[in-house]
Amino acid sequence: MGVIIINFKAYREGSGKQALKLAEIVEEVSSKVDDYIAVAPNFLDIPEIVSKFNVDVFAQHVDAVTFGSHTSRITAEVLKEKGAKGSLINHSERRLRLADIDFLVSKFKELSLTSVVCTNNVATTAAASALSPDYVAIEPPELIGSGIPVSKAEPEIVENSVKAAKDVNKEVMVLCGAGISKHEDYITALDLGADGVLLASGIVKAEDQKKALEELVGLR
Ligand code: G3P
Repeated sequence: MGVIIINFKAYREGSGKQALKLAEIVEEVSSKVDDYIAVAPNFLDIPEIVSKFNVDVFAQHVDAVTFGSHTSRITAEVLKEKGAKGSLINHSERRLRLADIDFLVSKFKELSLTSVVCTNNVATTAAASALSPDYVAIEPPELIGSGIPVSKAEPEIVENSVKAAKDVNKEVMVLCGAGISKHEDYITALDLGADGVLLASGIVKAEDQKKALEELVGLR
């Protein structure tokens, strides 16, 4: 079975009290399946979710700085102290420079945090893999939030990204994302060689989040 990371983004349905409810759903559903399901809520919700639920929590972003005179920045060290398992890095809604990604991947190794570097095409997936993160996550930006699953609409980008990533670095795990919401989309992603999916709106914006997650993992 695979890896599922749910990005709560800044959706109302995934923020504050709603983030806690959704984390509880994830905890419950993940206890019934072999899939690894983790959440990526906004920064302020991380500590409470970490303390209340048995679910791995990722940040949605982290800045390429260490402690010092940087205003409104989040360091990897603070994420670690607050109990985050790791972070998305370079999400297409929060891009970073290559040197920053490199810095963060190294810093995460030092701190034993899990790095999930997002990419937008096959070439950037290969480039990110060369930095040896734990995961790369290929997400064509035009499909994000579209409800059109990347695994069905652009299977070749998933397949080629998996190949490009593993050619560069056999250890790297590959996720794909954008428009994933159904069990079939998830299974297709795994069949294409991905280790799992990174998704948001299909679960966070679903009318019934629990039902949507159960459907995604094949419990319904
Ligand atoms: O980080 C996941 C994301 O960008 C994909 O979004 O809403 O298409 O699942 P969505």
